[in-house]
Amino acid sequence: MTSAAVPDPADHERLLIIDFGSQVTQLIARRLRELNVYCEIHPYQNVDDAFIAKFAPKAIIFSGGPDSVLRDGSPRPPHAAYEAGVPILGICYGQQVMMQDLGGLVEGGKISGGGGTAEFGRAFVARAGALPLIDGWEDREQVWMSHGDHVSRLAPGFEVYGTSPNAPFAITADLDRQFYAVQFHPEVHHTPKGAKLYENFVRQAGFSGDWTMEAYREQAITAIRDQVGDAKVICALSGGVDSSVAAALIHEAIGDQLTCVFVDHGLLRLNEAHEVVEMFRDHMNLQVIHAQEQDLFLGELDGVSDPETKRKIIGRLFIDVFQKYADQIEGAAYLAQGTLYPDVIESVSFSGGPSVTIKSHHNVGGLPEKMGLKLVEPLRELFKDEVRALGRELGLPDHFIGRHPFPGPGLAIRCPGEITRDKLDTLRLADAVYIDQIRKHGLYDEIWQAFVAILPVRTVGVMGDGRTYDYACALRAVTSVDGMTADYYAFGHEFLGETATRIINEVPGINRVTYDITSKPPGTIEWE
Ligand code: XMP
Repeated sequence: MTSAAVPDPADHERLLIIDFGSQVTQLIARRLRELNVYCEIHPYQNVDDAFIAKFAPKAIIFSGGPDSVLRDGSPRPPHAAYEAGVPILGICYGQQVMMQDLGGLVEGGKISGGGGTAEFGRAFVARAGALPLIDGWEDREQVWMSHGDHVSRLAPGFEVYGTSPNAPFAITADLDRQFYAVQFHPEVHHTPKGAKLYENFVRQAGFSGDWTMEAYREQAITAIRDQVGDAKVICALSGGVDSSVAAALIHEAIGDQLTCVFVDHGLLRLNEAHEVVEMFRDHMNLQVIHAQEQDLFLGELDGVSDPETKRKIIGRLFIDVFQKYADQIEGAAYLAQGTLYPDVIESVSFSGGPSVTIKSHHNVGGLPEKMGLKLVEPLRELFKDEVRALGRELGLPDHFIGRHPFPGPGLAIRCPGEITRDKLDTLRLADAVYIDQIRKHGLYDEIWQAFVAILPVRTVGVMGDGRTYDYACALRAVTSVDGMTADYYAFGHEFLGETATRIINEVPGINRVTYDITSKPPGTIEWE
């Protein structure tokens, strides 16, 4: 299985991040991408002298990491990094490793058993001299520290430009060589001027900021054409942002050599299938097969109430259905996937090697091998916000690009207990009213995900002069950065009251509305 049609990064000014295992290394890449700088993260084990020569970075960053430079065999950058003649920024562990490699001294803190002071959390750095790296910083700035060991003597050539109470060498630099080393983490949110520091660093290193979506689009198109030639490509279009942007990009590259399969399992939201198919087929002229398989899915789900069983049935049928339609496309040699950069980094783990398999897409996992397909993954270099920017660049409408995530198993996991067509219809209507309310109140973009779950319980109510005995539903809305953890969204009572009234008035079959105030953990975002 070959991979990836991606633009050749050799066409860009490139920054190399050598990863020593910090939890927040990805954030460094994000900060740099925001500055239109192309960068790649590579685990230190994979970076040797030859790698540096081939990569030809315009600057290098050493990330933080959990180890202690005082331990024998602790992670090191290759010697060539220091001799590449390019600026280097060392962060936390990266600072310590740089100091030790270049002739300074590092002493142990509590973690490595030394007597020094460890420092975790918020600290304040006082400026101790003028340095371009911290242009725009006040004399005293908040930073985020997270270190056990600390530098106790600078390497020759370095001077101090910032100190904190527990880190006398918080900001240091060797201006001749353009080596910078900081004890704190400028990439995290808790270092408010950290983004400015990165901006200064890349400006000092001479980056012109050539990593734009417009440039990416052009190069990605060329790369897809080179990879695919005149072969045919199939794509499972879900209507989600990633598969939509991948499909739009590939279509722009190879036109009708691409066929999308949109599997309608009967568990989609109100008008969703229609909107997706209409947009891609009628407005964007993609070849889209609308696989109408509602009866198949709902039939097999009939009477099933166990959440895992539901998921397994849907996953299995999805693959069967996709394969059935794909088999009809003669000569299909490639499968397009909307794999993003975080998926790639996650699977090229710190302790793993470069050859660790890339995470399979949840919906079509295993398919490429089974069907003998090669992969086209034109978004492998991008973060989610860049995918959105690319989508805009490709002309996808804003309301589409900014849509909340929607799970592959769809409404099945928002309908605890047995799924019936009636319940799904009720749920679709309630969800549409809820989302309409959220949009009307201008809250949609503040919320990571919002939806209604229809509960497997009927309750007594009174409407007009009559008694009702209808379903209860739960509204869910959460904020999150990645879906891994989440907080419930704190709507005002007025919003909740108004929404409950609208749902009960406009949705037959529901007579009680509740609001789910569980965060994740301990809850999950979906109900099943
Ligand atoms: P949970 O419920 O695990 O969800 O907190 C976290 C995020 O993942 C989405 N989700 C899924 N997405 N297939 C998907 O494509 C799935 O099977 C699936 N299950 C959960 C969920 O909507 C939320 O954004």
